[in-house]
Amino acid sequence: MSKIGKRVCVVGAGVIGLSTAVRLLDVAPSLQVTVVADLFTPFTTSDGAAGVNVFWNYQPDSLLYKWGFSTYMYGQKLYKENGHLTGVQQFFTVDIYDKETNCINASDIDRRKLSYKELEALYPGSGYRYGTSSLTYLTECKIYLPWLMKRFKLKGGNVLHRHVNSFDEIAADYDVIVNCSGLGARQLAHDDSIKPVRGQIFRVKAPWIKIATYDHDKMTYIFPRSNDVIVGGVYQHDNWDLSINHQDRENIWKRACKMDPSLKHAHIINEWVGLRPGRPEVRLEREVIVVNGKKVNVVHNYGHSSRGITLHWGCAVDASQLVLQCLQLNTVQSRL
Ligand code: LAC
Repeated sequence: MSKIGKRVCVVGAGVIGLSTAVRLLDVAPSLQVTVVADLFTPFTTSDGAAGVNVFWNYQPDSLLYKWGFSTYMYGQKLYKENGHLTGVQQFFTVDIYDKETNCINASDIDRRKLSYKELEALYPGSGYRYGTSSLTYLTECKIYLPWLMKRFKLKGGNVLHRHVNSFDEIAADYDVIVNCSGLGARQLAHDDSIKPVRGQIFRVKAPWIKIATYDHDKMTYIFPRSNDVIVGGVYQHDNWDLSINHQDRENIWKRACKMDPSLKHAHIINEWVGLRPGRPEVRLEREVIVVNGKKVNVVHNYGHSSRGITLHWGCAVDASQLVLQCLQLNTVQSRL
């Protein structure tokens, strides 16, 4: 399909870039949208992430809450309409804490405290005292990103495989650049506040595990998915090492087996390391840069730390709105 609309380039093809590109074509179908990236699914950081929606503990009047809530509702819609075809599934999750005060936050949708008896029934002999249960969504990006990509192409979107070192290289070809480059924004937007937060996980076969557990204070989690179970994790700030660390692997496994001793019988499929795009806060805003005397509109949408999947749709909605503002276009009304 050839288009004659304004040209928009989305840099980055992880969950943030692809969802922003799809949303743009949802609200402005005549735009010529190109996703430019060096890594596409299944090789992006999003592809390796567990994909759990961590929509909790956000202040009700915050942007994080707004983006998280929008993404939660979108996940619910996708799941109810498409079942597991989009990679989104609803699941029951238990959050464990060391202190009671961390348990409940006003912003949570359906969270309730678990009694000591319930915790003991779920995790015999663990001694867990403080926990909550809730329903949430998990998005498997190895299924979700190809689904988004198909949607994007059906809407006439273009794809370009290349590494972008600087906005200067692409500024002449587009009316707006959308920066969804994650950790790449360190170089691209000269932003030193974005730093890796290294993660390491196991993917295992353990089909008997049906309930997700996340011990927040020990940073240990077990998330069952459609065909595997993700076991993690670590949060190592400013660590760029992409190789499997043997000490981390031992620690994670020990902590997880303590949480659920049946894991001892699990078959390990593989292990994975990913670098979360850590930043004190998400950067979602417009900036005008000057390249060779030409003013170029840039919309930044990066720095989601470990919450990219949790916030992606809400951020895609707002980033698309900013692109339309740059182009001075009216939006097509859409509820989600
Ligand atoms: C992580 C997931 C659990 O970042 O949010 O490891």
